[in-house]
Amino acid sequence: MKEFKFPKGFYFGGATAAYQCEGATKEDGKGEVIWDKYLREQGTINPDPACDFYHRYPEDLELCKEFHINAIRVSIDWARIFPEGEGRIEPRGVEYYHKLFKKCHEEGVEPFVTLHHFDTPQALQDKGGWLSQEMLDAFVEYAKFCFKEYAGEVRYWITINEPTSMAGQQYVGGTFPPAYKDQFDKCFKAEYNQNLVHARIVNAYKEAGYTGQIGIVHALQTVYPATDSEGDKHAAELKDVLENKFYLDGTLAGKYSKHTLALVKEIIDANGQQMIDIKPEDEKVLLKAAKQLDFVGVNYYFSKFMKEYHGDTEIIHNGTGEKGTDVNRMKGVGEEIHPKDLPATDWDWIIYPQGMYDQLKRVYDDYPLVHSIYITENGMGYKDKFEGEDKIIDDTPRIDYLKQHMEEVAKAIEAGIPVNGYFVWSLQDMFSWTNGYSKRYGLFYVDFKTQKRYAKKSAYWYKKLAETREIPP
Ligand code: BG6
Repeated sequence: MKEFKFPKGFYFGGATAAYQCEGATKEDGKGEVIWDKYLREQGTINPDPACDFYHRYPEDLELCKEFHINAIRVSIDWARIFPEGEGRIEPRGVEYYHKLFKKCHEEGVEPFVTLHHFDTPQALQDKGGWLSQEMLDAFVEYAKFCFKEYAGEVRYWITINEPTSMAGQQYVGGTFPPAYKDQFDKCFKAEYNQNLVHARIVNAYKEAGYTGQIGIVHALQTVYPATDSEGDKHAAELKDVLENKFYLDGTLAGKYSKHTLALVKEIIDANGQQMIDIKPEDEKVLLKAAKQLDFVGVNYYFSKFMKEYHGDTEIIHNGTGEKGTDVNRMKGVGEEIHPKDLPATDWDWIIYPQGMYDQLKRVYDDYPLVHSIYITENGMGYKDKFEGEDKIIDDTPRIDYLKQHMEEVAKAIEAGIPVNGYFVWSLQDMFSWTNGYSKRYGLFYVDFKTQKRYAKKSAYWYKKLAETREIPP
């Protein structure tokens, strides 16, 4: 792409998430979150010390400055502040985030702060998690506490990171604790509750008169039919409603369309389960929030191609990086297939940059209340090789991936879609929830033994992009 320059003020960021990078899971009075117990039981991933961001954030933020990265996505680990999810407050946790935000500002790095990035306090999960009113009310209280406490330090808030991944993996895919499978009714109920509590939090933020911005982050995978057949087209619609549209309607339109609800019912019916209740009074809350929402964050990694499928659900997650091992067939939805001509990562994520543009266009065209978009995550999992202190880590495939996706962002901006920033997932290497430490995404390589950081080739590429606001070759 020639002669495109990203607008002045565009954020070139790096993304992180508390539990994946902080480590220190037992330090300073932090309470347990759902992953502590689950990972202990699984015995596969040790969340400590991750990349030790809890202690090494100053170094990471200095690297941001050095590499012209002017924004960072961080999340607050709810259980650092409320160890039981509600009630008692842990001052050391509160203080930690003050120090983190202060350092961000000292280095000229704007923090975009997520309140919930998959790390539900265990105490609240024990009470029913996203399905319980107590958890929802506690979430609102925790959010209000953070708004008040960090008002002078945080200008960009994100309520929930990827509610679709959360509910989908907790109740259908079975890879997020408590790892239930095939419970489509509970999945949609959790989705419904997430949309609603997000709306309550947005409304509370606005009612309190804060001057910052508040948004939500959605994982949006663009879904295409594998062929032109009616069956495949319908499977794509069903998958889209399960993974994207139910959330987009709830949070960006403030109303579920009749078509959306009909598709939801079709999925739930096909699985012999009970359709969820949609309450008119809840839709008032959703609409009020959608009208006040400042931005939507889009996490885009891959697209999906669907074939019609009428068997039972069979999901095999490729958590090892052994290409070709992923299987995803859902009863009442459809089967994901891998078109032969499209490349994929070692974890079977189909690389399809055009899907990024199509999704941005869809969000902007179909949801007229949307007026500001950030790409809050985009990046490539890769088995980076460290070949010695004096050799640069050559992650050219990641550079190609980032470049192709940045070109789609540029195309979207040129088409008038208001994309105001982009965050690479991830700033530095950390662990992946279901794939462990070998699936690296960082611009900065982390030696997990010494915790030393090394800029990869992609970090230099990104630096040039951020410095010039032009996509380097
Ligand atoms: C997003 C999450 O789903 O994708 C991140 O917000 C996550 O937390 C990232 O790590 C990459 O996913 P994975 O499964 O490869 O770690």
